[in-house]
Amino acid sequence: MYPTLLTPSILVDIDRLQANLDGMQAVCDTNGVQLRPHVKTHKMVEVARRQLQAGAAGLTCAKIGEAEAMLPAFEGPGRSREIFIAHSLVDPLQAPRLQQLTANLDELRVACTSEAHVLALENLAEAAGLELQVMMAVDTGLGREGARGTEDAVRLAQLISQQPHLRLRGIYTHEGHFYGVPPTESDKELTAWHARLLATHAAVCAALGEKIDLWPGCSVSAKRLAAMPGIDAVRPGAYVFGDMSQTSTTGVMTPEAVALHVLATVIDTPEPGLVLLDAGSKTFSSDRTAQNIYGTCQWGDVTRVSEEHGFLTGPRVHELRVGQRITVMPAHVCTVVNLTDSVTIVRGDEIIDNWRVDARGKTQ
Ligand SMILES: Cc1ncc(COP(=O)(O)O)c(C=O)c1O
Repeated sequence: MYPTLLTPSILVDIDRLQANLDGMQAVCDTNGVQLRPHVKTHKMVEVARRQLQAGAAGLTCAKIGEAEAMLPAFEGPGRSREIFIAHSLVDPLQAPRLQQLTANLDELRVACTSEAHVLALENLAEAAGLELQVMMAVDTGLGREGARGTEDAVRLAQLISQQPHLRLRGIYTHEGHFYGVPPTESDKELTAWHARLLATHAAVCAALGEKIDLWPGCSVSAKRLAAMPGIDAVRPGAYVFGDMSQTSTTGVMTPEAVALHVLATVIDTPEPGLVLLDAGSKTFSSDRTAQNIYGTCQWGDVTRVSEEHGFLTGPRVHELRVGQRITVMPAHVCTVVNLTDSVTIVRGDEIIDNWRVDARGKTQ
């Protein structure tokens, strides 16, 4: 299996990747909803370029450094250069980079995430000499950033609107808590959650006297939300590759659609029922499923990792031999990609390219 590659390597199946990009875009297009994918999953200019080529209205980034790294993806005719940085920016040291980024884009939006954050963002905007276009966060159950409840959201919206250097353009949410909702309850939960979100959005619009955008949607919810009323854009990330969180945990993707795998080598079989792989936490990351699984394959699961060892256990691991190469689906793909300089692009058994992870480690 890929005898010319050293292991561990990260494999991306080009046809599956393209099918995932096109599939999400098609659902958005059918429903007249914009797709603004989050690039934190892939961090690759080539993937962002393909997302924009397929019809994405813009990109979502976590950090300024990620946004800077993605600029070449907009090259080419007819692309609107729009980025939303979905993170709480507070540091006046970032002012020159924000100026530069704004100058390189048609539109830059940034997040405002609570009343405690407003002043810091206003100061940053003033230091940059910019009127920042703002998406305010509403927490919908994850318990991370965002206004807690409708009253809080209305107050936050009014406070942002009073700032001379901030212009409120919309509401965003990140419903990461959906990764903990069993697939059987997901539709019911989403319907109730969507109704609450629309009510909050309507109250904010009424208080402001204007309609502002509503941009929710992670990979678990995006396709279903796009078909529901009142949504202007969705911002999924992990859908491009898929992983165990998209397949076994939430059931929004089939294993056959997963485009990224870790190619690893069996380096030892020290006792019955245990196989050691040459890929540990420095390949899979420390992220795991709720069942403590770091990755899965047809022979079993990676149930423990040290830095450069994966512990593969399961009913069929006795079939594996030292030196054998296997592919493993990771638990959480985003953190896997951030650990590698490049990925190997394959079509079936054929190696066709190698793509740099351009925004790897761009956490500033
Ligand atoms: C603010 C925000 N938007 C969108 C996403 C995309 O989520 P997912 O990768 O689950 O699609 C994330 C993921 O962490 C996020 O934090």
